[in-house]
Amino acid sequence: MLEQNVEHCKKCKRPNLGIGNVMLVHLLADSVTVVGSIRSILEPQFKVHWSLLHDNSADMMRPHAMIVAVELHNVEKIETLRERLASFDRSKKRIFLLPTKTHRSIAQAYALGATGILSFPADKQDLTGELIDRSQPPASSPSQASAFAGAALLKSMFSAATSGQAPDVKGVESTGPQIVDSIAADGLSSWLDAVRNYHRGTYQHCLLVTGLATDFGLSLGMNSSDVDRLYRVAMFHDIGKSRIPLKILDKPSRLDSRERQIIETHPTAGFDILSSNLHISAETLDAVQHHHEYLDGSGYPHGLMGRSIPDIVRMLTIADVFAALIERRPYKETMSRECAYEIVCSMAGKLELSLVKAFKAVALHR
Ligand SMILES: [Fe+2]
Ligand SMILES: [Fe+2]
Repeated sequence: MLEQNVEHCKKCKRPNLGIGNVMLVHLLADSVTVVGSIRSILEPQFKVHWSLLHDNSADMMRPHAMIVAVELHNVEKIETLRERLASFDRSKKRIFLLPTKTHRSIAQAYALGATGILSFPADKQDLTGELIDRSQPPASSPSQASAFAGAALLKSMFSAATSGQAPDVKGVESTGPQIVDSIAADGLSSWLDAVRNYHRGTYQHCLLVTGLATDFGLSLGMNSSDVDRLYRVAMFHDIGKSRIPLKILDKPSRLDSRERQIIETHPTAGFDILSSNLHISAETLDAVQHHHEYLDGSGYPHGLMGRSIPDIVRMLTIADVFAALIERRPYKETMSRECAYEIVCSMAGKLELSLVKAFKAVALHR
Protein backbone atom coordinates (compact mmCIF):
# COMPACT_ATOMS: atom_id res chain seq x y z
CA MET A 1 0.00 0.00 0.00
CA LEU A 2 2.85 2.35 0.70
CA GLU A 3 4.16 2.44 -2.82
CA GLN A 4 3.41 6.12 -2.79
CA ASN A 5 6.07 7.42 -5.15
CA VAL A 6 8.95 8.12 -2.82
CA GLU A 7 11.23 10.28 -4.92
CA HIS A 8 14.99 9.67 -4.97
CA CYS A 9 17.93 12.02 -5.15
CA LYS A 10 19.26 11.98 -8.72
CA LYS A 11 22.87 12.04 -7.46
CA CYS A 12 22.99 9.72 -4.44
CA LYS A 13 19.87 7.67 -5.27
CA ARG A 14 18.68 7.81 -1.67
CA PRO A 15 15.00 8.58 -0.92
CA ASN A 16 14.44 12.30 -1.14
CA LEU A 17 12.49 12.99 2.02
CA GLY A 18 12.24 16.69 1.58
CA ILE A 19 10.88 16.96 -1.91
CA GLY A 20 11.60 20.49 -2.98
CA ASN A 21 10.25 22.46 -0.06
CA VAL A 22 7.55 19.89 0.67
CA MET A 23 7.80 18.16 4.02
CA LEU A 24 7.20 14.43 4.12
CA VAL A 25 4.66 13.41 6.74
CA HIS A 26 3.71 9.87 7.64
CA LEU A 27 0.11 9.42 8.74
CA LEU A 28 -0.84 6.38 10.81
CA ALA A 29 -4.61 6.09 11.20
CA ASP A 30 -7.26 3.53 12.06
CA SER A 31 -9.59 4.15 9.12
CA VAL A 32 -9.48 5.35 5.53
CA THR A 33 -12.08 7.97 6.39
CA VAL A 34 -9.69 9.51 8.89
CA VAL A 35 -6.88 9.32 6.33
CA GLY A 36 -9.03 11.16 3.79
CA SER A 37 -9.95 13.95 6.16
CA ILE A 38 -6.34 14.59 7.19
CA ARG A 39 -4.96 14.39 3.67
CA SER A 40 -7.55 16.92 2.54
CA ILE A 41 -6.10 19.36 5.10
CA LEU A 42 -2.41 18.74 4.45
CA GLU A 43 -2.07 18.17 0.71
CA PRO A 44 -0.53 19.56 -1.38
CA GLN A 45 1.37 21.69 1.17
CA PHE A 46 2.77 18.48 2.69
CA LYS A 47 3.54 15.17 1.07
CA VAL A 48 1.49 12.64 3.02
CA HIS A 49 2.33 8.94 3.12
CA TRP A 50 -0.09 6.88 5.10
CA SER A 51 -0.77 3.46 6.50
CA LEU A 52 -3.56 1.88 8.48
CA LEU A 53 -2.98 0.63 12.00
CA HIS A 54 -3.48 -3.06 11.18
CA ASP A 55 -1.56 -3.04 7.92
CA ASN A 56 1.79 -4.25 9.17
CA SER A 57 2.95 -5.11 5.68
CA ALA A 58 3.46 -1.43 4.97
CA ASP A 59 7.01 -0.31 4.29
CA MET A 60 8.15 2.27 6.80
CA MET A 61 10.00 5.35 5.74
CA ARG A 62 11.82 8.07 7.53
CA PRO A 63 9.43 11.00 7.46
CA HIS A 64 10.16 14.43 8.86
CA ALA A 65 7.13 14.10 11.11
CA MET A 66 4.45 11.60 12.06
CA ILE A 67 0.78 12.10 12.62
CA VAL A 68 -1.05 9.46 14.63
CA ALA A 69 -4.83 9.44 14.38
CA VAL A 70 -5.83 6.31 16.26
CA GLU A 71 -8.51 5.98 18.91
CA LEU A 72 -6.73 5.42 22.25
CA HIS A 73 -9.47 3.94 24.43
CA ASN A 74 -9.11 0.43 23.10
CA VAL A 75 -6.36 -1.66 24.75
CA GLU A 76 -5.85 -3.85 21.69
CA LYS A 77 -5.42 -0.84 19.41
CA ILE A 78 -2.97 0.74 21.85
CA GLU A 79 -0.82 -2.39 21.86
CA THR A 80 -0.87 -2.60 18.07
CA LEU A 81 0.02 1.07 17.85
CA ARG A 82 2.91 0.60 20.25
CA GLU A 83 4.31 -2.16 18.03
CA ARG A 84 3.86 -0.10 14.88
CA LEU A 85 5.48 2.99 16.36
CA ALA A 86 8.55 0.99 17.36
CA SER A 87 9.55 1.06 13.66
CA PHE A 88 9.58 4.85 13.48
CA ASP A 89 12.39 7.17 14.48
CA ARG A 90 11.61 8.40 18.00
CA SER A 91 13.58 11.59 17.55
CA LYS A 92 11.07 12.94 15.01
CA LYS A 93 7.97 14.94 15.77
CA ARG A 94 4.95 12.77 16.62
CA ILE A 95 1.66 14.61 16.59
CA PHE A 96 -1.30 12.72 18.04
CA LEU A 97 -4.82 13.70 17.00
CA LEU A 98 -7.32 12.80 19.72
CA PRO A 99 -11.11 12.77 19.19
CA THR A 100 -11.59 13.27 22.94
CA LYS A 101 -8.90 14.97 24.96
CA THR A 102 -8.92 13.54 28.46
CA HIS A 103 -6.09 13.31 30.97
CA ARG A 104 -6.00 9.56 30.33
CA SER A 105 -5.83 9.78 26.53
CA ILE A 106 -3.22 12.54 26.76
CA ALA A 107 -1.14 10.50 29.21
CA GLN A 108 -1.45 7.51 26.87
CA ALA A 109 -0.33 9.59 23.89
CA TYR A 110 2.74 10.86 25.74
CA ALA A 111 3.53 7.30 26.86
CA LEU A 112 3.56 6.41 23.15
CA GLY A 113 6.06 9.16 22.40
CA ALA A 114 3.79 12.07 21.43
CA THR A 115 5.63 15.36 21.02
CA GLY A 116 2.42 17.29 20.41
CA ILE A 117 -1.30 16.65 20.87
CA LEU A 118 -4.17 18.23 18.93
CA SER A 119 -7.90 17.59 18.66
CA PHE A 120 -9.49 15.50 15.92
CA PRO A 121 -11.09 16.57 13.60
CA ALA A 122 -7.99 18.63 13.10
CA ASP A 123 -8.00 22.36 12.55
CA LYS A 124 -5.94 23.09 9.44
CA GLN A 125 -4.14 26.07 10.94
CA ASP A 126 -3.28 24.24 14.18
CA LEU A 127 -2.01 21.14 12.41
CA THR A 128 0.04 22.85 9.72
CA GLY A 129 1.36 25.33 12.30
CA GLU A 130 2.47 22.46 14.54
CA LEU A 131 4.20 20.77 11.61
CA ILE A 132 5.93 23.85 10.25
CA ASP A 133 6.79 25.96 13.27
CA ARG A 134 8.12 23.19 15.39
CA SER A 135 9.33 20.72 12.79
CA GLN A 136 12.87 20.88 14.11
CA PRO A 137 13.74 20.44 17.77
CA PRO A 138 14.12 24.12 18.66
CA ALA A 139 16.60 23.65 21.51
CA SER A 140 19.18 26.06 20.15
CA SER A 141 19.82 27.86 23.44
CA PRO A 142 20.20 26.83 27.09
CA SER A 143 16.74 28.31 27.80
CA GLN A 144 15.07 26.25 25.10
CA ALA A 145 16.90 23.07 26.10
CA SER A 146 16.04 23.43 29.78
CA ALA A 147 12.43 24.40 28.96
CA PHE A 148 12.10 21.21 26.90
CA ALA A 149 13.61 19.14 29.70
CA GLY A 150 11.25 20.79 32.20
CA ALA A 151 8.22 20.22 29.97
CA ALA A 152 9.12 16.55 29.47
CA LEU A 153 9.42 16.14 33.23
CA LEU A 154 6.08 17.86 33.86
CA LYS A 155 4.39 15.65 31.25
CA SER A 156 5.72 12.54 32.94
CA MET A 157 4.73 13.82 36.42
CA PHE A 158 1.20 14.66 35.27
CA SER A 159 0.88 11.33 33.43
CA ALA A 160 2.00 9.47 36.56
CA ALA A 161 -0.42 11.42 38.75
CA THR A 162 -3.27 10.72 36.31
CA SER A 163 -2.64 7.00 36.34
CA GLY A 164 -2.21 6.81 40.12
CA GLN A 165 1.56 6.34 40.07
CA ALA A 166 4.18 8.27 42.04
CA PRO A 167 5.53 11.35 40.21
CA ASP A 168 9.22 11.36 39.33
CA VAL A 169 10.61 13.35 42.25
CA LYS A 170 14.23 12.59 41.36
CA GLY A 171 13.67 14.07 37.90
CA VAL A 172 13.06 17.45 39.53
CA GLU A 173 16.43 17.21 41.25
CA SER A 174 18.21 16.84 37.91
CA THR A 175 16.09 19.21 35.81
CA GLY A 176 15.78 22.02 38.37
CA PRO A 177 19.50 22.89 38.35
CA GLN A 178 19.45 22.88 34.53
CA ILE A 179 16.66 25.49 34.64
CA VAL A 180 18.52 27.62 37.19
CA ASP A 181 21.72 27.48 35.12
CA SER A 182 19.95 28.43 31.90
CA ILE A 183 18.23 31.42 33.52
CA ALA A 184 21.50 32.53 35.03
CA ALA A 185 23.20 32.18 31.62
CA ASP A 186 20.49 33.40 29.22
CA GLY A 187 18.43 35.66 31.46
CA LEU A 188 14.79 35.40 32.50
CA SER A 189 13.39 37.02 29.33
CA SER A 190 14.94 34.35 27.15
CA TRP A 191 13.42 31.65 29.38
CA LEU A 192 9.96 33.26 29.31
CA ASP A 193 10.10 33.53 25.50
CA ALA A 194 11.22 29.91 25.10
CA VAL A 195 8.43 28.67 27.35
CA ARG A 196 5.70 30.80 25.80
CA ASN A 197 6.72 29.97 22.23
CA TYR A 198 7.02 26.23 22.56
CA HIS A 199 4.86 25.02 25.44
CA ARG A 200 1.17 25.17 26.16
CA GLY A 201 -1.49 25.01 28.83
CA THR A 202 -0.69 23.80 32.32
CA TYR A 203 2.86 22.84 31.38
CA GLN A 204 3.52 26.36 30.09
CA HIS A 205 2.12 27.78 33.32
CA CYS A 206 4.17 25.51 35.59
CA LEU A 207 7.34 26.28 33.63
CA LEU A 208 6.70 30.03 33.82
CA VAL A 209 6.13 29.83 37.57
CA THR A 210 9.31 27.79 37.97
CA GLY A 211 11.38 30.30 36.00
CA LEU A 212 9.90 33.30 37.80
CA ALA A 213 10.25 31.79 41.27
CA THR A 214 13.81 30.71 40.54
CA ASP A 215 14.77 34.12 39.20
CA PHE A 216 13.09 35.75 42.17
CA GLY A 217 15.50 33.82 44.39
CA LEU A 218 18.49 34.65 42.18
CA SER A 219 17.56 38.35 42.14
CA LEU A 220 17.50 38.41 45.95
CA GLY A 221 20.95 36.81 46.09
CA MET A 222 19.67 33.66 47.78
CA ASN A 223 22.13 30.83 48.17
CA SER A 224 21.82 27.85 45.87
CA SER A 225 20.08 25.58 48.37
CA ASP A 226 17.33 28.19 48.85
CA VAL A 227 16.98 28.65 45.08
CA ASP A 228 16.64 24.85 44.87
CA ARG A 229 13.76 25.00 47.36
CA LEU A 230 12.02 27.52 45.13
CA TYR A 231 12.18 25.46 41.93
CA ARG A 232 10.99 22.40 43.83
CA VAL A 233 7.83 24.05 45.16
CA ALA A 234 7.20 25.70 41.77
CA MET A 235 7.53 22.53 39.68
CA PHE A 236 5.09 20.65 41.92
CA HIS A 237 2.71 23.45 42.85
CA ASP A 238 -0.10 22.66 40.36
CA ILE A 239 0.25 18.87 40.14
CA GLY A 240 -3.31 18.70 41.52
CA LYS A 241 -4.55 20.04 38.17
CA SER A 242 -3.99 16.52 36.84
CA ARG A 243 -7.30 15.74 38.60
CA ILE A 244 -9.22 18.63 37.02
CA PRO A 245 -11.13 17.90 33.76
CA LEU A 246 -9.41 19.48 30.77
CA LYS A 247 -12.63 21.06 29.59
CA ILE A 248 -12.46 23.22 32.71
CA LEU A 249 -8.68 23.79 32.66
CA ASP A 250 -8.70 24.80 29.00
CA LYS A 251 -12.02 26.62 28.94
CA PRO A 252 -11.52 29.74 26.84
CA SER A 253 -14.15 31.77 28.68
CA ARG A 254 -14.87 32.69 32.28
CA LEU A 255 -15.52 29.77 34.63
CA ASP A 256 -18.97 29.52 36.23
CA SER A 257 -19.27 29.08 40.00
CA ARG A 258 -19.47 25.27 39.84
CA GLU A 259 -16.38 25.09 37.61
CA ARG A 260 -14.59 27.54 39.90
CA GLN A 261 -15.41 25.25 42.86
CA ILE A 262 -13.94 22.29 40.99
CA ILE A 263 -10.73 24.10 40.03
CA GLU A 264 -10.28 25.25 43.61
CA THR A 265 -9.89 21.62 44.65
CA HIS A 266 -6.50 21.38 42.92
CA PRO A 267 -4.31 22.41 45.90
CA THR A 268 -5.87 19.69 48.07
CA ALA A 269 -5.70 17.20 45.19
CA GLY A 270 -1.99 18.03 44.80
CA PHE A 271 -1.45 17.44 48.50
CA ASP A 272 -3.23 14.06 48.24
CA ILE A 273 -1.12 13.03 45.24
CA LEU A 274 2.17 13.85 46.95
CA SER A 275 1.51 13.28 50.65
CA SER A 276 2.41 9.58 50.65
CA ASN A 277 5.64 10.18 48.72
CA LEU A 278 8.57 9.87 51.10
CA HIS A 279 10.81 12.00 48.88
CA ILE A 280 8.60 15.09 49.07
CA SER A 281 9.49 17.58 51.80
CA ALA A 282 6.95 18.99 54.25
CA GLU A 283 7.75 22.43 52.80
CA THR A 284 6.83 21.36 49.26
CA LEU A 285 3.62 19.72 50.49
CA ASP A 286 2.69 22.92 52.33
CA ALA A 287 3.37 25.05 49.25
CA VAL A 288 1.33 22.74 47.00
CA GLN A 289 -1.59 22.95 49.41
CA HIS A 290 -1.41 26.67 50.17
CA HIS A 291 -0.17 28.54 47.10
CA HIS A 292 -3.63 30.10 46.62
CA GLU A 293 -3.85 31.47 50.17
CA TYR A 294 -3.74 35.26 50.61
CA LEU A 295 -2.47 37.24 53.60
CA ASP A 296 -5.94 38.75 54.21
CA GLY A 297 -7.55 35.31 54.52
CA SER A 298 -9.44 35.55 51.21
CA GLY A 299 -7.60 32.65 49.54
CA TYR A 300 -8.30 28.92 49.47
CA PRO A 301 -8.51 26.10 50.52
CA HIS A 302 -8.12 27.02 54.19
CA GLY A 303 -8.40 30.80 54.30
CA LEU A 304 -5.01 31.06 56.04
CA MET A 305 -3.88 34.51 57.14
CA GLY A 306 -0.65 36.43 57.70
CA ARG A 307 2.05 34.56 59.56
CA SER A 308 0.56 31.14 58.93
CA ILE A 309 1.72 31.52 55.32
CA PRO A 310 5.49 30.94 55.12
CA ASP A 311 7.81 33.21 53.12
CA ILE A 312 8.50 30.63 50.44
CA VAL A 313 4.77 30.22 49.80
CA ARG A 314 4.34 34.01 49.63
CA MET A 315 7.08 34.15 46.98
CA LEU A 316 5.54 31.27 45.07
CA THR A 317 2.11 32.92 45.10
CA ILE A 318 3.51 36.14 43.61
CA ALA A 319 5.25 34.16 40.84
CA ASP A 320 2.05 32.15 40.29
CA VAL A 321 -0.20 35.22 39.94
CA PHE A 322 2.26 36.95 37.60
CA ALA A 323 2.73 33.81 35.47
CA ALA A 324 -1.03 33.38 35.05
CA LEU A 325 -1.23 36.95 33.73
CA ILE A 326 1.58 36.68 31.17
CA GLU A 327 0.71 33.21 29.83
CA ARG A 328 0.22 32.84 26.10
CA ARG A 329 -3.19 31.36 25.32
CA PRO A 330 -4.70 30.83 21.85
CA TYR A 331 -7.81 32.80 22.80
CA LYS A 332 -6.32 35.87 24.47
CA GLU A 333 -3.62 38.44 23.95
CA THR A 334 -0.48 37.99 26.03
CA MET A 335 -0.44 40.63 28.75
CA SER A 336 2.72 42.74 28.92
CA ARG A 337 4.98 42.30 31.91
CA GLU A 338 4.35 45.95 32.86
CA CYS A 339 0.56 45.50 32.99
CA ALA A 340 0.90 42.20 34.83
CA TYR A 341 3.13 43.80 37.46
CA GLU A 342 0.61 46.63 37.94
CA ILE A 343 -2.05 44.04 38.69
CA VAL A 344 0.24 42.28 41.16
CA CYS A 345 0.85 45.65 42.84
CA SER A 346 -2.91 46.23 43.07
CA MET A 347 -3.24 43.11 45.22
CA ALA A 348 -1.90 44.91 48.30
CA GLY A 349 -3.15 43.22 51.45
CA LYS A 350 -3.28 39.84 49.72
CA LEU A 351 0.40 39.64 48.70
CA GLU A 352 3.26 40.81 50.88
CA LEU A 353 4.17 44.35 49.90
CA SER A 354 7.91 44.07 50.53
CA LEU A 355 8.12 40.96 48.38
CA VAL A 356 6.01 42.56 45.65
CA LYS A 357 8.45 45.48 45.61
CA ALA A 358 11.40 43.09 45.46
CA PHE A 359 9.69 41.25 42.60
CA LYS A 360 9.74 44.40 40.46
CA ALA A 361 13.21 43.66 39.09
CA VAL A 362 12.10 40.15 38.08
CA ALA A 363 8.82 41.35 36.57
CA LEU A 364 10.22 44.23 34.56
CA HIS A 365 13.96 44.21 34.18
CA ARG A 366 15.57 40.80 34.23
FE1 LIG B 1 -2.59 26.62 41.48
FE1 LIG C 1 -0.32 27.88 39.40
